[in-house]
Amino acid sequence: MVVEKVVIEESARIIIPEKGVFYNPHMRFCRSLSVIAADAFATVRGKDLRICEPLTASGIRSIRYAKEVKHINSIISCDANRFAVKYAIRNVELNEVHDIVKVYKCDANLLMTSFSRRGQRFNYIDLDPFGTPSPFFDSAVRAVEHGGLICYTATDMANLCGVHPLSCFRTYSSYPIAKCGYVHEVAIRISLFSLASSAARHGLYIKPLLAHFTRHYIRVYSQLFYDESEAKKIFMENVGFLYHCFKCNNRRLSKFRNIEARTCSICGSKMTVAGPIWIGKIFDKEFLKAISKSMEKYSFSDQEKIVKTVKLISEEASGPPLYYNIPKMCKSLNVQMPKINALIEELRSYGFYACRTHFDPQGIRTTASTLDIIKILTSQR
Ligand SMILES: C[S@@+](CC[C@H](N)C(=O)[O-])C[C@H]1O[C@@H](n2cnc3c(N)ncnc32)[C@H](O)[C@@H]1O
Repeated sequence: MVVEKVVIEESARIIIPEKGVFYNPHMRFCRSLSVIAADAFATVRGKDLRICEPLTASGIRSIRYAKEVKHINSIISCDANRFAVKYAIRNVELNEVHDIVKVYKCDANLLMTSFSRRGQRFNYIDLDPFGTPSPFFDSAVRAVEHGGLICYTATDMANLCGVHPLSCFRTYSSYPIAKCGYVHEVAIRISLFSLASSAARHGLYIKPLLAHFTRHYIRVYSQLFYDESEAKKIFMENVGFLYHCFKCNNRRLSKFRNIEARTCSICGSKMTVAGPIWIGKIFDKEFLKAISKSMEKYSFSDQEKIVKTVKLISEEASGPPLYYNIPKMCKSLNVQMPKINALIEELRSYGFYACRTHFDPQGIRTTASTLDIIKILTSQR
């Protein structure tokens, strides 16, 4: 006999078996922020959403979109696991959203491919896989309409953060870097390179709107546009390599065609190269404003954490790529750790942009160069 349990998550009430259908209560934050992002996106686009959730498991995500986002036209979901589909269909009925959500037993890539013709495409695709989303990027970019959005979760952090570099290279065609002090931002940039290259292959370019690292996963939201000549230009401008110096924490980004010498400009050491990665923007200030507005419509269980995360991201959206982990810098300089707020104030007093980052409570994002930061940290000795 199958032992079942009832789960209540925000507006949704679902039934799942004890075993065999995936449901992770810790992803509630991710799903709630997705609801807010979907609401914001529908508002910005002025269009009802045609959502595809091709890795639906219990159906919880699709059900929450249907019940909690006002501007939904339809949601098409699927899962390859027969047992999951049985429960997802049952949960859709239980939540009385069967007019909006249709669930199929199907492979995710097959489902998206069957909606890849113009006129049938979705304007919002949510990829929430086990591990990496990269095997679904090609089908997703073909199934998204011009100006539509693809969001994805990646939980294969050991790959993306350089613990298993060859697995990362195989999965994302990008060589990662471990222990550089800002690995979670690099993880997002590696995944965006993979999405951007799938998009470019099919004549689209990406415009990242929002990205965050939470607990054990990254989550990225990007808009996509059909335009072959822009796709060429944007891909070339926004894809490049990361150079990191493990001796003094210096780092720099170079565009794909501007391969540089690996010598660190500060200490002369040989820098480690990672990539290709997305070197362009990962946050969009206008979309973050829309998110902040949409956020006011909800009072989720994780509201406080969502508000805090969005506030931090809205600040760091004005900063440059690659934050600094201050304890790591202090350790390599053998200096005392300053208070993060005091350091931010000091950087601002010199005219630099400086703020905290949601990636790391001990991190800062600033326009100051590594050398400027080293000078400030060592002058307090
Ligand atoms: C992480 S779970 C999805 C969780 C769900 N979105 C949620 O928010 O609770 C991933 C799901 O993808 C399904 N899956 C894996 N590979 C698939 C494929 N190629 N096509 C369709 N479903 C697949 C698995 O059966 C599993 O139910």
